[in-house]
Amino acid sequence: MKTNTDSITYNDSVNSGERFEFGKNWKSFLKTLNDERIEVAIQSLKDMLEVDSLEGKSFLDIGSGSGLFSLAAKKMGAKVHSLDFDPNSVGCTKELKNRFFKNDPNWTIEEGSALDTKYISSLGFFDIVYSWGVLHHTGNMYLALDNADLPVKNGGLLFIAIYNDQGKRSKLWTRIKKTYCSGFLGKMFILSIFLPYYLTRGLVEDLLRFRNPYKRYRDYKKQRGMQMIYDWYDWLGGLPFEVASVKQLFHFYQKKKYILQNIITGPGMNQLVFKKNMN
Ligand SMILES: C[S@@+](CC[C@H](N)C(=O)[O-])C[C@H]1O[C@@H](n2cnc3c(N)ncnc32)[C@H](O)[C@@H]1O
Repeated sequence: MKTNTDSITYNDSVNSGERFEFGKNWKSFLKTLNDERIEVAIQSLKDMLEVDSLEGKSFLDIGSGSGLFSLAAKKMGAKVHSLDFDPNSVGCTKELKNRFFKNDPNWTIEEGSALDTKYISSLGFFDIVYSWGVLHHTGNMYLALDNADLPVKNGGLLFIAIYNDQGKRSKLWTRIKKTYCSGFLGKMFILSIFLPYYLTRGLVEDLLRFRNPYKRYRDYKKQRGMQMIYDWYDWLGGLPFEVASVKQLFHFYQKKKYILQNIITGPGMNQLVFKKNMN
């Protein structure tokens, strides 16, 4: 198995409570995947990259998770390489390839780390490097942000999504995530507080606004094809966890001669598409 840093393996970091098992969550999510969710994922890529097709383009998915966005890029015509540090995430991405593009040589998938500079450099250059919700979960976000630049072609696009720096609130979330990942009791403790809280909060909000409470769960898939419950688990347990402000990300890539091409900001997450300068 490839290592995340020189010394810490994936299993070490899970066993020591430093890492959420994203891949297990993605395995459950895949059971809910259908054509409608795939179409939403494709549309979200089209919107952010401002393209209708990826025909003739190469696409690197760093931290492919369920594999949904590798699949979306493939369906848009790209040649795709997917990588993830979690063996279960790699398994999910392989399962999607088997379902939709079995034996297609233009979709390769492997276990690898965003922190492995030598490995990332060995992948060559891509028209689009996509790393959504990943680099802040590596344990060394700034090294991962640095490495994400390496495989972007001159004139190519880098699409990242990074947790927003919310000051004290982000520090509190780190404590919650650490408790979740500390073991079975910690996980049950956090779930027993937050699941009823999220459900009640949503219900009260809907009732006060005379909205059908079911609609909120049904419509959630409109956000990148995701499923609310698996996003809750991912959020409550998602360790390692780091944050950055839009300004920090903007300056980080500006120094590397990137131009900001598209942006969606939110209280919790910022999504940015940068274009690598031709010079
Ligand atoms: C929140 S998920 C995002 C998945 C996917 N990019 C998406 O948009 O749905 C984060 C993913 O990053 C992966 N990951 C964490 N550390 C990584 C690393 N060092 N290198 C590559 N992938 C990593 C996790 O295993 C997980 O699958």
